[in-house]
Amino acid sequence: MAADVRKRGSPEKGAVASDGEHVENAPGEDGLRSRRSARSRFCGLLSKLLIIAAVPIGAFGFKYYQDRQLMKRHESGLRTLGTEGLFLFSSLDTDHDLYLSPEEFKPIAEKLTGVSPPGEFEEEVPQDPNGETLTVEAKMQPLLLETMTKSKDGFLGVTHSSLSGLRAWRGPATPSSVFFASQFRAFLPPKNKLEAGEPWWVVPSELNIFTGYLPNNRYHPPTPRGKEVILHSLLSMLHPRPFVKSRFAPQGAVACIRAISDFYYDIVFRIHAEFQLNEVPDFPFWFTPGQFTGNIILSRDSSHVREFRLYVPNNRSLNVDMEWLYGGSESSNMEVDIGYLPQMELQATAPSIPSFIQDEEGNMIDSRGGAGGDPIQFVFEEIHWKSEISRKEAAQRLELMLYPFKKVTYLPFSEAFSRAQAEQKLVHSVLLWGALDDQTGIFQCDSPVTRYCLTLSVHTGSGRTLRETVLESSPVLTLLNQSFISSWSLLNELEHLQADVSNPALSNIASLHLEKYNFPVEMMVALPNGTVIHHINANYFLDQTAMKPEEDSTMFSFAGGFEDPSTATYIRFLQDGLEKAKEHLL
Ligand SMILES: *[C@@H]1O[C@H](CO)[C@@H](O)[C@H](O)[C@H]1NC(C)=O
Ligand SMILES: *[C@@H]1O[C@H](CO)[C@@H](O)[C@H](O)[C@H]1NC(C)=O
Ligand SMILES: *[C@@H]1O[C@H](CO)[C@@H](O)[C@H](O)[C@H]1NC(C)=O
Repeated sequence: MAADVRKRGSPEKGAVASDGEHVENAPGEDGLRSRRSARSRFCGLLSKLLIIAAVPIGAFGFKYYQDRQLMKRHESGLRTLGTEGLFLFSSLDTDHDLYLSPEEFKPIAEKLTGVSPPGEFEEEVPQDPNGETLTVEAKMQPLLLETMTKSKDGFLGVTHSSLSGLRAWRGPATPSSVFFASQFRAFLPPKNKLEAGEPWWVVPSELNIFTGYLPNNRYHPPTPRGKEVILHSLLSMLHPRPFVKSRFAPQGAVACIRAISDFYYDIVFRIHAEFQLNEVPDFPFWFTPGQFTGNIILSRDSSHVREFRLYVPNNRSLNVDMEWLYGGSESSNMEVDIGYLPQMELQATAPSIPSFIQDEEGNMIDSRGGAGGDPIQFVFEEIHWKSEISRKEAAQRLELMLYPFKKVTYLPFSEAFSRAQAEQKLVHSVLLWGALDDQTGIFQCDSPVTRYCLTLSVHTGSGRTLRETVLESSPVLTLLNQSFISSWSLLNELEHLQADVSNPALSNIASLHLEKYNFPVEMMVALPNGTVIHHINANYFLDQTAMKPEEDSTMFSFAGGFEDPSTATYIRFLQDGLEKAKEHLL
């Protein structure tokens, strides 16, 4: 990643060049290392807890023994297979024990035999063969390669095989499929979310600060379970390798009721899934649309589906994030890019209908007009919604569920200061380096795109750490909400404001901000008149909060509960800002 940031730097602004040191030291490997260390930190913590819980010291010895064994297996794996070979092996070894179980070997078996073994796909209630069915059609127009940043130099330096999966994906894998209406019951609300606008997790996110992120070197999705099954089947119509749970946050699927009638719900959903486009021997290529969204109108017992649509929004100029590896080690050799996908959608062609119905004489007849008969025309009653919210409102509820940090409003830079003046508050501002200059202001773009801005400007670790943990933690949200006006800006936005002579006041405030900026991200506290009274660099912040696994974890104070150290540090940063403001206002 480090190399990548350097490559994409905007040399005319000197953002990278002038701060090469940061690029050398911090990004990429460090960010990724910090993910892993989060995991090992958790293991470290766990082992400490175990010890405290009076488990004999033997536990520690056992862990040490296990680690040694793993290390040995790793070394022997490397000797036998070489780096690239071991990489492929690890991509199958999902539990990282350096042995392949039959379950882990399954994708290879499927590939060699061309047969999917009977999986746990339908671990749920079997479908009623007389239940209603609906036809879902898939439509897609391939990603416009010319919208990718790397197309500007004709994909110079991009190995041809990296993009092979992307280039080959010209249309849906399965243009049309028939589903049972009852399969869509996964979208029904749980019993405690029966009001319009109350969001719930269809597929909960499993990421947190301890689990970190799922690995990049995988080719085959895990076996979907429970409610993931229908999402997996639907997304498989587009591409054979959908990962219902994306590697990074936001992960999972959320839904809420938009409208309620006596018999129906209109449910709006949002899914963060991604596709793996490459296969062995090419390195993985991840294709992550900004989001999948859509709605389903279904009966409360899910016996009838009236409408179903799932799509990738295409009304922004960039809507897909792509990441691919170009070497056999997941940590460093990763490229990122972004592009525009004009169309990707699934839609029910018509409401679900029973396959067979009885006529007056009690004969079963094929509703689709088999055996020479005409297809039966069904007439559907009109739905009268008794309570509803707008689609936009529903989308906002889902967004807040996925991005709790949005519970605090982030105003554009130009508004933040006038608001701060009016409310007599300080401005909490985050200034990011960004290479993109159109609509990708951090809160206007969908998540992976945001992530891309951050991946470019910050290294993976700090961008993600900032948004996903610190700015979402409830003590920080509360403090920001009470005492600050918040704002995010990209570096080049402020440079434009600074250069704008028609608004000297704002231009001056922008200059004061830019003076304090250091690559890649600077967090600042400013007085309403623009004077920056406190600031902290994201890399410095991360260094402060990153705990080395071997360090004593006294920071996890038992008295104070398990407060994440970065949250505590951020609160301290904001409180210091408030203190300094007092001095200024005396
Ligand atoms: C894109 O469409 C969504 C839903 O239709 C809407 O809420 C959003 O404002 C649109 N965004 C842009 C940039 O037009
Ligand atoms: C922010 O403050 C307002 C008004 O005091 C309150 O209604 C809202 O729930 C608060 N939001 C958060 C995220 O704390
Ligand atoms: C903003 O206000 C503070 C305190 O009143 C003052 O010290 C500072 O010079 C002012 N800054 C500008 C840019 O006017």
